[in-house]
Amino acid sequence: MTVAAIVPAAGRGERLGPGQPKALRELGGVPMLVHAVRALSRARLVDLVVVAAPPGGVDEVKALLALHDIGAEVTVVAGGAERHDSVARALETLPPDVRVVLVHDAARPLAPPELVDAVAKAVLDGNQAVVPGVPMADTVKRIGEGQGLRAPVVATLPRSDLRAIQTPQGFARDVLTQAHAEGKLAAVDDADLVERLGVPVVVVPGSTDAFEIARPIDLLFAEAVLAERRSHGAF
Ligand code: CTP
Ligand code: MG
Repeated sequence: MTVAAIVPAAGRGERLGPGQPKALRELGGVPMLVHAVRALSRARLVDLVVVAAPPGGVDEVKALLALHDIGAEVTVVAGGAERHDSVARALETLPPDVRVVLVHDAARPLAPPELVDAVAKAVLDGNQAVVPGVPMADTVKRIGEGQGLRAPVVATLPRSDLRAIQTPQGFARDVLTQAHAEGKLAAVDDADLVERLGVPVVVVPGSTDAFEIARPIDLLFAEAVLAERRSHGAF
C-alpha cells in the first residue's frame, strides 16, 4: 500500500522572530525543512514526500532539496494562508494509488525515522487516524477570565490523562480527505478535523526528539540535540 508524507512548511515562523520562513531557517547548518524531509525519506514505510512551501518560495525549496540530496521522491507545491490550506493543497496533488497519508510539520525537524514508521505502521495495521503523544512534563490547569495579568484557576487536569500531541500524524487517505472537505474552522491539527467526523483517533508513543520549534529557545535545544547526535556519528 502506498504511503505518502505531506510536510506543511509554508508558515512564517512569527514566534521565532524576524527572519526567513521558519522551515528555511538552519539547524546545524541545514534548513529545518531538509531535516524533516530526510527523516521521512529514511523511514522504511514512506514512498513519497510532498512539501507545501511558502507561497512564492516553491523554486527556492526545490533548489534546496536538490542541493541536499534527499534520496527520495519529493515534490513541492505552494502552501496556503493557514496550515490546513497548505495540507489540503498537498493532499490534492497525491497520486491515486496513495492509501495512507502522514502529515509532518517542518517545524518538528528532529522527529526520528523510527517514529515515522511507527505511525505509518499503526495506520497500515487498520487504525484510521494515529497521532504520537508524550506525557506532559508540566501540570496543566484551566484558567478563567482574570484581571490584568492574574487569572483564576478553574480546574487542574489530571496529568495521567493528558498527552502532548506531535507529528507525524497518520491517516487513511479517504478519512483525511473527507475531514479536510468538511470544515476546518479553528482546527488545531489534522487529527482535530478527523475527530469532528466521529472517526476514532489513537495515540501511540511519541518521541522527545519530535518537539516543535516555535520559540527562539527551542532552536537552542534543537542545536544541542543535533550536536549530541553528531557526536555519536549520526548526522
Ligand atoms: N504551516 C504551513 N502553512 C501555513 C502555516 C503553517 O504549512 N499557512 C506549517 C509551518 O510551516 C509549520 C507547521 O505548519 O511547519 C506548524 O506551524 P507552526 O509551528 O505554527 O509554524 P508557523 O506558522 O510558521 O509559526 P508561527 O505560528 O510562529 O508563525
Ligand atoms: Mg503557526
